[in-house]
Parts: sequence; C-alpha cells; structure tokens
Amino acid sequence: MQLRNKTILVTGGARGLGRAFAEAAIKAGAHVLIADVIDGTEVAKQIGARFLPVDLASPSSIQDLSKKVEKLDGLVNNAAITNSGGRTMEELDVDVWDKVMAVNVRGTWLMMRGCLPALRRVKGNVVIVASVTALWGAPRLLAYISSKGAVIAMTRGMARELGPDGITVNAVAPGLTEVEATEYVPAERHQHYAQGRALKRSQQAQDACGAVMFLLSDDAAFMTGQVLPVNGGFVMN
Ligand SMILES: NC(=O)c1ccc[n+]([C@@H]2O[C@H](COP(=O)([O-])OP(=O)(O)OC[C@H]3O[C@@H](n4cnc5c(N)ncnc54)[C@H](O)[C@@H]3O)[C@@H](O)[C@H]2O)c1
Repeated sequence: MQLRNKTILVTGGARGLGRAFAEAAIKAGAHVLIADVIDGTEVAKQIGARFLPVDLASPSSIQDLSKKVEKLDGLVNNAAITNSGGRTMEELDVDVWDKVMAVNVRGTWLMMRGCLPALRRVKGNVVIVASVTALWGAPRLLAYISSKGAVIAMTRGMARELGPDGITVNAVAPGLTEVEATEYVPAERHQHYAQGRALKRSQQAQDACGAVMFLLSDDAAFMTGQVLPVNGGFVMN
C-alpha cells in the first residue's frame, strides 16, 4: 500500500486515464478526490472517491475548488483536451488553439497555484500528464502537442521553484492509449503506434498507472523535474 492514507487529487478523473489513476491510487491506499468538468458523481461512488466539480478553463472555478482542499499529498494534473485532432496547422482555428492552451496550459498552472497551500502543508508530490506526441512531434495535433511541450517545460520550472518547499513535480508522457477519447483515431494510427513500439501491442490506461503511483509515492522522494515516457518504447530518452 504505497499511498496509504495519502490524499490525492486527480483532475479529469471521471473517465479515461484519470479514472485509471484514481482507481490505482485508491488500490494503493489513498483517499482520492476526482475533479472534472463532466459529472463524476457516479464514477466517484463506484470507485470510492469524492467528486469535486471544476472547469479548468475558468480561473474562478479553479479558485473555488482550491478552497475545498486543505492538505494534498499528491496532485495529478491529468485533465486536458485535444480538440484539434486530425487538422493540419493551416486548418487549425485560433479559437481552438486558445481553448486548448487555456485548459491544458493555463489550467495546469492555475491548478498548481490554487493547490500550493495544500501541497506545502505536507510536502506533496505532483505528477503532470504530458504526452509522447510532444516528444516526437506528432503531426496534425499542433495545438495539443504545443500544450504538452509547455507542460513539460512547466514541470521543470515548477520543480526548481518548489524544490525548496520539499514539493516534487514530475511528468509522465503516455503513448497513444485505447480510451474513449481516442476512439476517433483511425485503426491504422493505433497500429502504427503498436508497430513502432519496442513492446508491440496497444497501450491501455492501466499501463501508465505504475509510473504515476511511483511518482506520487515516497519511493520517488528524491526525483523531481523528470519526464517519464511510458509508451512501450515508442520514444526512448
Ligand atoms: N489517451 C491517450 O492516447 C493519451 C496519450 C498521451 C497523453 N494523454 C493525456 O492523458 C490525459 C487524460 O487523457 P484521456 O485520454 O484519458 O482523455 P479524456 O478526454 O478521457 O480525459 C480527460 C478528462 O479531462 C476532463 N476535462 C476536459 N476538459 C476539462 C476542463 N475544462 N476542466 C476539467 N476537466 C476537464 C474530461 O472531462 C476528462 O474526464 C490528458 O492529459 C491527455 O492529454 C492521453
């Protein structure tokens, strides 16, 4: 029970990878809060978490959420949107670009800022969910990969700013994962990823859980500012 009695907040925990992280943290002994823009009441009930509504596009909504958390041993900044999947850089709209940046980049920063008092109280560990797409430059995903590049830079900058407070900030970079959000991705693309991996199979939500649980745990206490690619060896650092 790596996370026994720790309080962990997972943004975007109502479905997909976030739900898998929430369930894994509960299994590891944590009290879990899931925060999402979609209603996560039922999911929270099913998995034994508490649901808190939040819209990461809205600074005031993030502020309201942060008032509800007193102490956080762990924060998983997982929520993000893609919105631009399949469009070339010429087809991409400014509105889509701005929305992706508002949720994925500004939302992550504001969540961190809002949760800092709760993290400082217990020297919490933070995990930011990036993406392997930012590491290899996946085409037709420019707004998204730019936002993921930004959160990788943010991971490093925040790690240095918050290290003196004993707070660690690391990132994981999952590969293309089979979840609801990637059902729109053509089968050939899923196969392309599977073939490009050293481990030749599709990626499931559970595949990234071990890395996230480790980074939230005391076992990773002397690790900060790092990006762990968890993608079956598609990209190797
Ligand atoms: N699925 C993949 O192939 C893949 C690969 C690499 C990285 N990722 C990253 O993993 C994370 C989870 O992605 P997923 O695939 O599970 O997608 P998803 O869409 O199922 O999950 C994202 C969650 O964030 C929530 N969310 C969206 N906008 C929000 C907002 N404004 N405020 C609060 N919550 C909001 C959604 O409701 C959803 O529950 C994301 O950061 C994504 O970029 C996913």
